[in-house]
Amino acid sequence: MQTGIVLETKGATMKKRVLSGIQPTGNIHIGNYLGAIKHWITSQAEFDNIFCIVDLHAITVTQNPKILKSKIRELAGLLFAAGIDRKLSHVFVQSHISAHAELTWILNCLTPMGWMQRMTQFKEKSQKEQVNVGLFDYPALMAADILLYETDLVPVGEDQKQHVELARDIAQRFNSIYGETFKIPEPVIPETGARIMGLDDPTKKMSKSETQQGHAIHLLDSPDVIRSKTMGAVTDSLREIRFDENRPGIYNLLVIYELFTGISRAEIEARFEGKGYADFKKDLADVIIEGLKPLQSRYRDLTADESYIDSLLVEGASKIRPIAEKILTTVKDKVGLG
Ligand code: TYM
Repeated sequence: MQTGIVLETKGATMKKRVLSGIQPTGNIHIGNYLGAIKHWITSQAEFDNIFCIVDLHAITVTQNPKILKSKIRELAGLLFAAGIDRKLSHVFVQSHISAHAELTWILNCLTPMGWMQRMTQFKEKSQKEQVNVGLFDYPALMAADILLYETDLVPVGEDQKQHVELARDIAQRFNSIYGETFKIPEPVIPETGARIMGLDDPTKKMSKSETQQGHAIHLLDSPDVIRSKTMGAVTDSLREIRFDENRPGIYNLLVIYELFTGISRAEIEARFEGKGYADFKKDLADVIIEGLKPLQSRYRDLTADESYIDSLLVEGASKIRPIAEKILTTVKDKVGLG
């Protein structure tokens, strides 16, 4: 019998498996936190969780090797500091498990070009910059990340939904050609906060690759920086502080306030009735500073010894490698390899 999200199987309780990923490209911001990381943490006791630091995805853009290594450690430190609990969740680095790259190739060979050409993120990026084959193939690698672990649920922000849907299509195609092999994963998108917008331009998603000062609040920003970015956030010339999606600047700031405080929308609107944007922004800055404070202090403790984080990542990969290897062996066998 199914009770909530826990599956009962033959007397034993089996939790659903969650898998998600994040790129170690630095500049981890409150959009990543509110749209993804926070949900991974709050629901980790209900599920069996795997979180992947996707360094192979990161090199679709040229990276400085030394900086990439330090960003991988930084991101792992941030995830643990934010509240990922090693007793409930496994955190690992994608390139530590070679099955990801190997399965990607097999998936490439049954994915129609048209499916990949439809990906909006690729279409947008290829209009702006010279792109490489890796960037085009990025969704197949993401499908491999998901399918290698018999994943049930993939909690992501809105921008990754299409990629998770593609992973479903690829899994279904494989199963229909070679017989039942992959579990079909479901994307899980938060109702609020799935698309936090840039503070400097609330019509654009907050993004790690935007480097203008004032675009994003990063998880390790100091209180002064958080205050100045918040005070400088673009709003509009109206006065009322209301959750109105047609006013993207103030709406985005109110959503951030709501998610950091957990206070209802009606209460927030009542709290700021008759007040100006400057008062609201001052409070919002305090809320973000206080919200990130515990994470920032745990981060400093955890990363005092770099080798500690490295050892957690080695441990994470060694625990889950057998799951990936088992699926890959089945896949190779079905395809007729080896
Ligand atoms: P990445 O590293 O760009 O983002 C990590 C997570 O943060 C979410 N996110 C946001 N949520 C709300 N508002 C925003 N402005 C915002 N910006 C980013 C993303 O949706 C994501 O959930 N391809 C993925 C990583 C990946 C992955 C996977 C995810 C690789 N393999 C397998 C799930 C399953 C990416 O680049 O995320």
